[in-house]
Amino acid sequence: LKSDWLARIGQAADEAALEEIRVAALGKKGEISLKMRELGGMSPEERQVAGPALNALKDEVTAALAAKKAALADAALDERLRAEWLDVTLPARHRRAGTIHPVSQVTEEVTAIFADMGFSVAEGPQIETDWYNFDALNIPGHHPARAEMDTFYTHRSPGDDRPPHVLRTHTSPVQIRYMEAHGAPCRVIAPGRVYRADYDQTHTPMFHQVEGLAIDRDISMANLKWVLEEFFSAYFGTKVRTRFRASHFPFTEPSAEVDIQCSWEGGTVKVGEGNDWLEVLGSGMVHPKVLQAGGIDPTQWQGFAFGMGIDRIAMLKYGIPDLRAFFDSDLRWLRHYGFSA
Ligand code: PHE
Repeated sequence: LKSDWLARIGQAADEAALEEIRVAALGKKGEISLKMRELGGMSPEERQVAGPALNALKDEVTAALAAKKAALADAALDERLRAEWLDVTLPARHRRAGTIHPVSQVTEEVTAIFADMGFSVAEGPQIETDWYNFDALNIPGHHPARAEMDTFYTHRSPGDDRPPHVLRTHTSPVQIRYMEAHGAPCRVIAPGRVYRADYDQTHTPMFHQVEGLAIDRDISMANLKWVLEEFFSAYFGTKVRTRFRASHFPFTEPSAEVDIQCSWEGGTVKVGEGNDWLEVLGSGMVHPKVLQAGGIDPTQWQGFAFGMGIDRIAMLKYGIPDLRAFFDSDLRWLRHYGFSA
């Protein structure tokens, strides 16, 4: 009887088969259980022999079941380890990760620096009306600035005499849109794409600007200079001095072009040192007519505005000589400057 059960246990292929054997031997109606029940009907002499023998059998079968169960679990684990084997010494398969384009990176940086100074962020449409791009900014129809800006006009079918839309030539129209929507006081920057028909090493027909606008009761050019020096120093990570040159824009009065201090050394520009100057933006006090166009009373409010080339300050920071490369989508170029994996 004993060798029979031990043999069956030894042959069990899995845990389910093993459980069947356990029930058949030790379950309520199992063979060994039934035999133990028969002990009651035996004479004391018979019982003295059969009792210990049956108990020993029960113990041995129980132990054998447990041992087999452990062996089956071991085998299952071995099998899993074999199947899930992994060679950690194999060279990894290289995956190329996309990255944020340098112009987007710089836009985010610029936005974060101005946000720290309390500026909100606004955006406007890239296809603009004549009104927002020109007239509201004190550039009437005959104004030479319209011609100078190399404006892209949208096409109108013959007979459609609505005024044409333009691809905005600067981010300044967002000044008007923001004034209309939020009134005064306000502090906002507006980054985005702008368009002019121009193409050479430092000009592409699409480029990026960030507009700045701050309106309050007594905002002055001194506030503008502080904000800009603060911005450039944070952006370039070193104290940067600015130089204001008198200029003219129809939408600011007075107007100034702003240069930052730099040095030219063997063709490379270093910002924040030296005796050279580099023009980076146009600015001024918002013209009363422009405030009016935006629905703000120029007898109560005044403010400054500026427009800065994002691509240009990106070129300066990363030492990139040709603006066009920014928009060629050439992965070799992006990788060379560390902009892509
Ligand atoms: N819009 C001007 C340009 O594109 C820059 C500018 C913005 C100047 C705001 C003054 C005030 O050249």
